[in-house]
This record gives sequence, structure tokens and C-alpha cells, in this order.
Amino acid sequence: MISTAPTEIELPSVSFFGRTLAEYSQFFALDLAELRGRAVLDVAAGPASFTAEAARRGLEAVAVDPLYGCTPDALATHVQLDYAHMLAQMRAKPHLLRFRSFPSIDAAEADRRLAAQRFLADYESGFLHNRYVGGALPRLPFFDGAFDLVLCAHLLFVYARKFDFAWHLAACRELVRVSAGEVRLHPLCGTDGRTYPGLARLRRELEEAGIMSTVAKVDYEFFAGSGTMLVLQRPRAPVPDILSPIR
Ligand SMILES: C[S@@+](CC[C@H](N)C(=O)[O-])C[C@H]1O[C@@H](n2cnc3c(N)ncnc32)[C@H](O)[C@@H]1O
Repeated sequence: MISTAPTEIELPSVSFFGRTLAEYSQFFALDLAELRGRAVLDVAAGPASFTAEAARRGLEAVAVDPLYGCTPDALATHVQLDYAHMLAQMRAKPHLLRFRSFPSIDAAEADRRLAAQRFLADYESGFLHNRYVGGALPRLPFFDGAFDLVLCAHLLFVYARKFDFAWHLAACRELVRVSAGEVRLHPLCGTDGRTYPGLARLRRELEEAGIMSTVAKVDYEFFAGSGTMLVLQRPRAPVPDILSPIR
């Protein structure tokens, strides 16, 4: 019999959906003790609570997202609408999920709702203290090498229908530009659980620009195919700013 199970999570636009520091630690293989005294940037951070929780632990973390700058009420409305859509998709397509990191959809929902609550509670004062900064790839409002570690989850590769290959390449170069060390990206698959088809070409073109990359397994999987991250290493020479005219 031919299976008629839907083959992907349908996301008409980029979701304002977020995870906790504990979930980030799993899919980015983070050692929080090693982050002490290092500046960390979370790009496309959405309503994730990584930055709020990191700040509470005395870590130096900044989050950037195009929707930062909206009022807390407007962000709460984005959370309400996008969580309802994402959770309905998960419940309709459980065959696209792997219950390794969460025992059930209910458990995953509770954790992600906790992330949004922690983010919203921290947002107003964090925005005033520049912990939340408005900005969008492929152009971030930070100096070259401003952060020791740059993280970006659930944007690149997931929304490959919306962002083309050239955008992905420019986004990776920009993430490396603002990093003084390493960039970590997760996951490497789309909403159908398949690895991004342009990954080999992307890594080759990054290497041509002097940016070495590694695909590393992580002890995590929730969406099918999400058990890896991509690590980019900043080259010794600065990454040329490809979006500005040569001066
Ligand atoms: C699914 S959320 C991911 C949140 C968080 N990183 C996580 O993994 O829990 C994707 C976020 O990307 C943001 N976004 C959309 N376009 C972007 C762009 N061009 N550059 C940076 N962020 C973008 C959205 O506003 C949204 O908050």
C-alpha cells in the first residue's frame, strides 16, 4: 500500500518559535562552563530563552532577530499564533518526529512554552541593555570578530524554500565575519527531515573563501534528521565583507 502520510512540516513563513538553554546545549553540544568569560551571539534567536537564561547565569550573551524592536505585546501575539501553527503541524505529523530528546509532543510543547515565557519576561529590560538587538541575515549590526561563539538555530537549511543558495552562502559568511572563533548551525535538514541539498556545495564554496567546516553529530534529535550541527571556523585572515562595495 502506498503511504499517504504528509512528508513535511508546512511553515508558510519563518516561525517565531523558541527553545530553552537546555535544548540549545544539546543540539549545539555546549559546555556551559567553557562559555564563562566568552561573548556568545544567538542569531535568529526568536523567543528562545538561551540568552535570558545565559544572562541569569552570568554569561555574556546577546540575541539578534528581525522582530526585536517590536513591543512585548506584539511579540507575545507572534508567539501565540506561531506556536499554535507549529504545534498543530507536529501533532498532525508525528512520523516526522523522533522521541529521543523529548518523550512526547506534550513534553516538547511545555519546554518550548517555558522558553517563550522566559524570553518575554526578559525582553523589555534586556532590550534596554542591548541583550536583544534588531537585525537580520545576511547583514548583522555587529563589528568583525565581535563574538567568541556565534550560534544560529532553525533558520538556515530549514527554510530553504524561502532563502536560496546565494542567501545561505552570504549568511554563513556573515556569521563567520562577526565571529572571532567558531560558528555553530543546527539543524542541517529541512522540514522534510532531508539534509539540505546544497550542503556539499556550500561547504566547498566556504572552503574556497578560507572557511573550514565540519559536520558533527550531536546527542539530540527531535525533528527527524536533526542529529547534527555544522561548525564553521573563522580563517586567520579577516573574512571580506562581500556585501559592501570595495573601498
Ligand atoms: C524558528 S525561529 C528559531 C528561534 C531559535 N533560534 C530556536 O532555535 O529556538 C526562527 C527565527 O528566525 C527569525 N528570522 C527570520 N528571518 C531572519 C533573517 N533574515 N535573519 C535572522 N533571523 C531571521 C525569525 O524572526 C524567527 O524568530
